[in-house]
Amino acid sequence: FCSFFSKQGHNGHHERIDFLSNKEKVSKRKTGLLVGVLLAFLVLAAVAAFLIWLFVCEFINSFKHKATLSAQRGPQSQVFSGHLKLAGVSYDQNLEDTESKEFKDLASTIQEIVSLTLEIKKPSFISLFLFSCIFEGVIAYYWSQFDIPPEDLDVLPEFSEERVLEVLESGLKAQRFSSIHITEVTTSLTDPRMARSPTARDCFFRLEATENGQEFSSPGYPHGYPPKSRCQWQIRASEDMAISVSFPFFHIEDDCSDDFVFIYDSLSPDESQAITNKCGQRPPSNPLEVVSSGNIILINLITDTDVQRPGFQAVYKAIPSSMVKTCGGVLIATEGVITSPLYPSFYPPAVDCKWSIKVPAGKKVRLKFTMFRMKEPGVDIRECHKDYVEVMGTKYCGEMSSLSLTSSTNAVDLTFHSDESYTDKGFSVQYSAFDPTNPCPDMFACASGICIGKEMACDGWNDCGDMSDEMDCKCEKDQFACKNGLCKPKLWECDRVNDCGDGSDEKGCGCEENEWSCGNGVCLPQDVRCDNKKDCEDGSDEASCINSPGICSAFSFKCNNNDCVNKVNAECDRIKDCSDNSDEEYCSKPYKLSRIGGGQNAELGEWPWQVSLHFMTYGHVCGASILSERWLLSASHCFVTSNPANHVPSNWQTYSGMQNQYKYDGVQRLPLKRIISHPDYNQMTFDYDIALLELSEPLEFTNTIQPICLPSSSHVFPAGMACWVTGWGAQREGGQKAQLLQKASVKIINDSVCNVVTEGQVTSRMLCSGFLAGGVDACQGDSGGPLVCFEESGKWFQAGIVSWGEGCARRNKPGVYSRVTKLRQWIKDETGI
Ligand code: ARG
Repeated sequence: FCSFFSKQGHNGHHERIDFLSNKEKVSKRKTGLLVGVLLAFLVLAAVAAFLIWLFVCEFINSFKHKATLSAQRGPQSQVFSGHLKLAGVSYDQNLEDTESKEFKDLASTIQEIVSLTLEIKKPSFISLFLFSCIFEGVIAYYWSQFDIPPEDLDVLPEFSEERVLEVLESGLKAQRFSSIHITEVTTSLTDPRMARSPTARDCFFRLEATENGQEFSSPGYPHGYPPKSRCQWQIRASEDMAISVSFPFFHIEDDCSDDFVFIYDSLSPDESQAITNKCGQRPPSNPLEVVSSGNIILINLITDTDVQRPGFQAVYKAIPSSMVKTCGGVLIATEGVITSPLYPSFYPPAVDCKWSIKVPAGKKVRLKFTMFRMKEPGVDIRECHKDYVEVMGTKYCGEMSSLSLTSSTNAVDLTFHSDESYTDKGFSVQYSAFDPTNPCPDMFACASGICIGKEMACDGWNDCGDMSDEMDCKCEKDQFACKNGLCKPKLWECDRVNDCGDGSDEKGCGCEENEWSCGNGVCLPQDVRCDNKKDCEDGSDEASCINSPGICSAFSFKCNNNDCVNKVNAECDRIKDCSDNSDEEYCSKPYKLSRIGGGQNAELGEWPWQVSLHFMTYGHVCGASILSERWLLSASHCFVTSNPANHVPSNWQTYSGMQNQYKYDGVQRLPLKRIISHPDYNQMTFDYDIALLELSEPLEFTNTIQPICLPSSSHVFPAGMACWVTGWGAQREGGQKAQLLQKASVKIINDSVCNVVTEGQVTSRMLCSGFLAGGVDACQGDSGGPLVCFEESGKWFQAGIVSWGEGCARRNKPGVYSRVTKLRQWIKDETGI
C-alpha cells in the first residue's frame, strides 16, 4: 500500500501553498510578529484560553462511538482539514491502522510538534489523523476543530483559512529540533458534516481497490437513503496505482446544499484537493466517473432532507498510475482525435499533457472540439488560472458548446493542465490537416475554419456559429437586405419578429416608430404598452410586461386560481409568479446534458419522456410523450384512420424507457385503458392532430422514464429557436424505421414562412419546424412523438407533436407539428394536467 505520488515539473504539488510560502519569504519577520500578536490576542481574548492539539489517540478513544466531529460542535466552531507532508519518516504499513502502536506514536509526535508551534495551552482544538505514504515519506491527513466560546466570537474572523495556514506554515518551518520535518501543509475550511472520526463505525468504510471492479452503494439503495446520513468511503490502492470510481446509477436530491456527494483526491475532506461535488440525477448516457491522481480517494455522502431519493451505486477499481499520468505526444497523422486523459471519465487532478500536431508542410491544422467541459468553482473563464487547454497562446476553460480553431502554420501544440482541485469531463477534439488555399472543398469556409454545406451560407441562419456564413451576402430577389448586411427571407419582413437582429426588418411596417403594433396590425401610441390596460384586442400590448396585474389576455399565464401573470414563459422558471405557486408545479426535472449535431442515435435516458407505441403485430408505428404517471400525449392520426381497430385501446402497447427497439432492460410496457382523440381532429387537413392516451396502470418514473413539461398556452417558442425531435421513424423518405431512437435538432420556423411554404395548409393549431434547406426532419413513424425545446430555466418543454409533412426533409418542406400551446387547455380539461 505504499505508493509513489509523482508530481512532475511545473505542476508541482500545491500551487496555493507555493504562493503563500513566497509571501512568507518576503515578510518572514513581520509574519512572525503578527503570528505572535495574533496568538497573544487569542489567548488573552479567550478567558477560556485556546487551542490545544490533543493527543490524537486519547481523542479517538474518548470519541470512539461518536460519528462526526460536528456532533461535538459548540455554537461556533470551525473545522479545518488538510495534510502535512512529513519528511524523514519511513513508511510503515501499520501507520494505516489507527489502532496500531506505530500510528499512535507518530500521531502523538506530530501532535507535540504542532502544539509547540502554536504554544497552545488549553483544549479547544482537537485533531484527527490518518496516514498514507509517498515516496519521500509519509502524508498525515488531518481534520481539526476550533471551538470558539460565545464570549470570544469577536475573534472569529481571525480563523480564516489563510490565517490558520500562515500560522501553521511559518511555525512548522521554524521547527528545527525534531527528526521529523514537515515540508508541506495545506488547510481548508471544511463543512463539519464531512469531518468524521477515523474510527467511526456507522456508514464509514475503508475499502481496498484492486484491478477488478468492486461495488458499493449508498445506504438504503435503491429504496432511498435515510435523512441525516454522514457517510464516508475511504479507498486505498497499492503503489503505482490510481483509483477510478464510476457511478452507473446516481440519483441524489436536486438541491446540492441539502444532499450531495463530495469526492476528494485526499483522505481528508480538504477543499484544495476536491475532485468534484455532485447532486441531482444523472442519466445513464452521462454517468459520473472520476479518477484520483494517487492511490487514495475519499467519497462523502451527506444528506439532510427527508425527501427520499434512491442514492447511488458505485464501482471502484485500481488502475495503473501510468494511465493517469501518461498523456500527450507527437502526432503526425493528417487527422485524428485527442481527448483529455481517461475521457469520457472525469480527467484526473494534477496532470499536464502536451500534444504536438505536425502535418505536411504547406497544410494547416483545424481543431474542432466536440466536447469541452472544464468548469471549476471561482474561475474567471477569461483567465483560466486553474484547469485549462492552451492552443496558440490562448487558454480555454469553462464549458463551450462549440469551439473550432485553425492553426497559422503546419504545426500546433495543444497543452492540457489540471491542477490539484476539481476536475470535470474534459474535452474531445478532432484535428485534421487542410489545404489553406482550398480549406473547404465544395463547401463554405466559416471564419472559424470549419466547413459547412454551401447551401447554408446566406440562408438566414447562423450555421457557422460566428455569423460568418451570413455576412457579405448578396441578397437574392426573394430576400430582405438587413441594415447590418444580413439577408433574410422577404417573408420575414414586418412579421413582428426581429429577424435581422438590428430591427431593420420590422421598421416602417405600417406603424410609426413611436407606435405599438397590435397582433392584428392595429397601430396604437407606444405608451399603451404595459400600462396595465388591455388596449389591443388581443392583449399583445400587455404581454411580457413585468407587471400588469389583473390583465388577462392570450399572452398571459393563467394560474390555477385564475390570476394572470404577464411575463414571457413564466412557468417552471424557478420563480414563483402565481400566489398559489401553480406556475412552478408539475415541472419535470431537467437533465443537464450537452447535445450535439442532428439526425443521430440518441443515448439511453437522453429523452426520458419518449414512448414507442406498438400496434397489434406491426411493432412500432407511432411515438408519444409522457405527461404523467398515467397520461401520454400523441397524435390523433395514429388512432383515427380508416381502420376502426386503431381506436381500440387493447390493440396498443406502450414502451417507456426504451432506446433500442429490441432491448427491454429498464423498459416499462403498459397497455392502454383509453384513447381520447381530439373531437375536432380533421382527417383531411390534420387540424387538431392530438390524442391523449390513458395508461391502464401508472408508470414508475426512473432515470430513463420521466415526464416532459407542458408549456402554458402563453408560452412563446420564437422563430429560429433550435428544438429537438425524436423517434424511431424512417431515416429517409420511403426508408426503414430505425432500430435505435433518433434525435435531430430542428429550428422553429416563422409562421408566415410556414404558411407560404405549405401553401396555406397550416392552421393556428400547427407549427413548422425544420430547415428550409431540407436535410433534417421527422418522417414516417415519428408521428405522435414530441418536439421539445430547452428553455433557459433549465427545463425541456414540449412545443409540438409530429403530425405531417410533404415527403421528408425536402427543401422548402419543413415538418408540421401540432402546436401544443394552442391545445393546452384541451389537455388540461381532459386530464387535469
Ligand atoms: N405522418 C407521419 C407519421 O405518421 C409523420 C410525418 C412527419 N413528416 C415530416 N416530414 N415531418 O409518422
